[in-house]
Amino acid sequence: MPRQVPVPCRRPRPDAHGEIMQTTQNTEEKALQRAVRAALAAPSIFNTQPWRWRIDGPRARLYADRSRQLLVADPDGRLMTVSCGAALHHGRVALADAGEACDIARMPDPTEPDLLATIRVTGPHEPTLAEMQAAAAINRRRTDRRPFTAQPVGDAICRTLIVAAESEHAHALVVDDSHIAVLGLIAVEAGALQLSDAYYRAELADWTHRPPWSGDGVDTAGAVPAAPRRVPVRDYAPFGGPVMHPGWENDRGARYLLVYTDGDTPVHWLRAGEALSALLLTAVATGLSTAPISDVTELPTTRDQLRTLLPGIGHPQIAVRVGYGPPGEPPPSTTRRLAEEVINPR
Ligand SMILES: Cc1cc2nc3c(=O)[nH]c(=O)nc-3n(C[C@H](O)[C@H](O)[C@H](O)COP(=O)(O)O)c2cc1C
Repeated sequence: MPRQVPVPCRRPRPDAHGEIMQTTQNTEEKALQRAVRAALAAPSIFNTQPWRWRIDGPRARLYADRSRQLLVADPDGRLMTVSCGAALHHGRVALADAGEACDIARMPDPTEPDLLATIRVTGPHEPTLAEMQAAAAINRRRTDRRPFTAQPVGDAICRTLIVAAESEHAHALVVDDSHIAVLGLIAVEAGALQLSDAYYRAELADWTHRPPWSGDGVDTAGAVPAAPRRVPVRDYAPFGGPVMHPGWENDRGARYLLVYTDGDTPVHWLRAGEALSALLLTAVATGLSTAPISDVTELPTTRDQLRTLLPGIGHPQIAVRVGYGPPGEPPPSTTRRLAEEVINPR
């Protein structure tokens, strides 16, 4: 996919001071408002949407919302931070598509660890074709847990996905066919160990049976029952509830990628989330369906086993399944919180 095709800049350049400066500031703030609203569609662990945004003139600040951290599945807040990284990337893509350049400061204040990033609009920008395609994919992307078809995902597309992750200062590895059984066994073990833990079951029940007004959580309607496939997906409906029909496919053509990082600190987790978002949006832009898989990384034992697929090269953060979805309707879209609850909340 071409990545650097310039198109005309969408924002007129200011040519005087005073009123025009004011207009520019308003334009920047409005662009940030729109970009941050677009970022509400980002994927997040259990659809917790663990973020808060503060917009102040040409600057937006992204905070982790620790009240939304999964204390059992994610005691360190790693996947909470990965989720916030995905939101940060969504916001950046929407801003670029709107013709705004920006500077990002990640973890800018050591005394404020929940302040994950600031985005400062710096001036006009000519969006690339890749940025426009990624922005257009934001509202088409949804996690599809159904098995994908036998149509193979080609090596060239996989390379594009790796480049997308690398451009966000993280990495992606395509799991070799001969290692998919290992990934499958790790996923089986992760599922069994987690479901045998009463605290995990309580956390899962909480986030899969949210009241309709909450605008968060994973409804069982987005879950699929067990189906014959090489790598099982997390069971979001072990307590019953209406689920999606899994269809008749079995993931034969699917590929699995591991997003990994050089280090394992909060800033690496944030970068991993940005890379995850870049990978997902690029995949959707090329016509693929996608599903993140993080249960394999949630327990230290299974995360260590996953490291055997990355011998000495980095820290696994999350896996992703990509493939061609079954024909017919896409999976239902997942609910989101209201913008007023997330952007400049009181
Ligand atoms: C860090 C992270 C971890 C996730 N882990 C899983 C997972 O293990 N299994 C799964 O089916 N979906 C997983 N997801 C997808 C979320 O459940 C999904 O993004 C959320 O429910 C919102 O739905 P949407 O992606 O369709 O917008 C994960 C997403 C993120 C960002």
